[in-house]
Amino acid sequence: MKVLVVGGGGREHALVWKIAQSPKVSEIYCAPGNAGIAKLAKCVNVIAEDIVAIADFAEREQIDLTVVGPEAPLCTGIVDEFQKRGLKIFGPTKAAAEIEGSKVFCRQILAKWNIPSPKFAIFDDPNEAKTYIRQQGAPIVVKAEGLAAGKGSIVCTNLDEALQAVERIMVEREFGDAGKRIVVEDFLEGREASVMVFTDGRTVKPMLPSRDHKRLLDNDQGPNTGGMGAYCPVPDIDAALYDQIVETIMKPTIAALAAEGRPYKGVLYGGLMLTKDGPKVLEFNCRFGDPETQAVLPLLESDLVEICEAIIDERLHEVEVKWRQGACICVVMASAGYPGAYEKGKVITGIEEAEREEGIIVFHAGTAIKDGQLVTSGGRVLGATAVGDNFTEAAEKVYRAVSKIQFEGAHYRRDIRPKGN
Ligand code: GLY
Repeated sequence: MKVLVVGGGGREHALVWKIAQSPKVSEIYCAPGNAGIAKLAKCVNVIAEDIVAIADFAEREQIDLTVVGPEAPLCTGIVDEFQKRGLKIFGPTKAAAEIEGSKVFCRQILAKWNIPSPKFAIFDDPNEAKTYIRQQGAPIVVKAEGLAAGKGSIVCTNLDEALQAVERIMVEREFGDAGKRIVVEDFLEGREASVMVFTDGRTVKPMLPSRDHKRLLDNDQGPNTGGMGAYCPVPDIDAALYDQIVETIMKPTIAALAAEGRPYKGVLYGGLMLTKDGPKVLEFNCRFGDPETQAVLPLLESDLVEICEAIIDERLHEVEVKWRQGACICVVMASAGYPGAYEKGKVITGIEEAEREEGIIVFHAGTAIKDGQLVTSGGRVLGATAVGDNFTEAAEKVYRAVSKIQFEGAHYRRDIRPKGN
């Protein structure tokens, strides 16, 4: 089989790495890929957002299966474009992907189907939004409706910040048209968790739960980032809580989308808050998480290609999704200055040495080859990942790997592991 992966970050490296283990696969392509992916796949010089060029490529190369990483092509209809041409693709249609593409749609459907969520209000007028925020007080969350590269949800600890967030999103249009409408939500207290499930629209097979670390600095301090690391599974989610999440949140949302005429196929990712009143939905994403995927896929024993094909053919009930026992930790190494401005082109060394230890995988995110050398080319550069029999072993291994990898200004968190483990 010829498989194409769309995207070029750490998540896509993990997807390519897992797909490469399938005995069904003879060739892998990745658009656009990165320097790490290039060791396993042929990188194609097309950006993930150019859905017509990607479909043209898949048609020309007779690709048997395309797997999409990022949300942008899903939300602009890459699956619909492929289906129109009779090409096999893994992911939700544009209508189903709206669960991530529109925060307004997401909140409305969850409210309509009584899926546990915070109280919210929708505004297309900034003054009305500000009046509501003054009545509610802080902390409060202000979200741009549309896609904003993960930056459109602003958690505001005081009133000034919240009013400023409305100004930034709706008036200054920091995120362009994504900020025409906003959702203002109650702030939820608790611990966050990411729950991804495979679904063909009817059958739901959960992945192991994971936890992202969005803040730049240890102890969840500093600015928000795209994610500084993840671990899997999550010790504070026991079997009963996991069952509750799947039965009261994930399955009802998939059923609701089907009932609304938007059947969902692919990976549905619930960004959840575990509150004292039970788990509630912070957001839904229409794809694999990044960096959660880097921590989850190394524990997946089953063939990902078989799962993807079964989902496309609506026979997920026939496939067993098996997990290995143990723990996985992914620690992101980022460029100095990230998530603000950063320099590129710093030479990276030590990856081969780090990967010599059994159970270590280094997933590339922002890397490139320049003058024959591996260099940094993004804010998040790579994710050192370790699998162990338990979190103590995984943490020792991953930080040993990180200590061997060097580039000027490298920054990483030292606390990517469950508290008390
Ligand atoms: N880990 C956050 C995301 O994938 O959106």
